[in-house]
Amino acid sequence: MGKFTVLDHPLIQHKLTIIRRKETSSNEFRRIVGEIGGLMTYEITRDLPLKDVEIETPMGKTTQKEIAGKKLTIVPILRAGIGMLNGVLDMIPSAKVGVIGMFRDEETLEPHEYFCKMPNDVAERECLVVDPMLATGGSANMAIAALKKRGVKDIKLAVLVAAPDGVKAIQAEHPDVDIYAAAEDDDLLDNGYIFPGLGDAGDRLFGTK
Ligand code: PRP
Ligand code: URA
Repeated sequence: MGKFTVLDHPLIQHKLTIIRRKETSSNEFRRIVGEIGGLMTYEITRDLPLKDVEIETPMGKTTQKEIAGKKLTIVPILRAGIGMLNGVLDMIPSAKVGVIGMFRDEETLEPHEYFCKMPNDVAERECLVVDPMLATGGSANMAIAALKKRGVKDIKLAVLVAAPDGVKAIQAEHPDVDIYAAAEDDDLLDNGYIFPGLGDAGDRLFGTK
């Protein structure tokens, strides 16, 4: 079964509380979702493999470390995943970006895919799927399945707020995928929203509604 890790660094917890507040403006919400995305990336990449590399400083030759292994593709789930993207790219500027568009039917809570554009070499890359909310898990499960269909073998999922049901759903359908969250919340309400959550992440990011 994939690991589920809550990244409870004090800075992440503090920033998450700010965006949970209903009076937080879209402007501030957007900025902080990006910042948390960056801080989470810092923690998620802690065990990236390194290799020795010969370089020359102005003072002479030396052996130093650089990141080895597979190149990364960041996969934001539209729309709300876009909010985390710049923060992640601040940490890994050389990553490629593949986007996947999903919306949930408000009645049935079933996800629908409406767009997918991946780098040509995505199958050879590690993918980090990002979305602020993991509620029923339907959207993330479908996004992960779309990556696997394109040959991707190495996938991680990063969310800000996870509902226990969503975590279980990913672990059941994609046991090879590790999940990282800034918080695991209490409950999934009957209307599909997470409690206490932070409301509709897409609407708050983009000022819609
Ligand atoms: C939200 C959120 C996730 C999904 C989570 O997107 O950003 O993608 O719901 O719910 P689930 O785990 O039950 O699938 P939404 O469908 O509201 O679209 P949006 O990002 O365009 O607002
Ligand atoms: N999508 C959101 O934006 N918020 C929730 O609480 C659940 C799904």
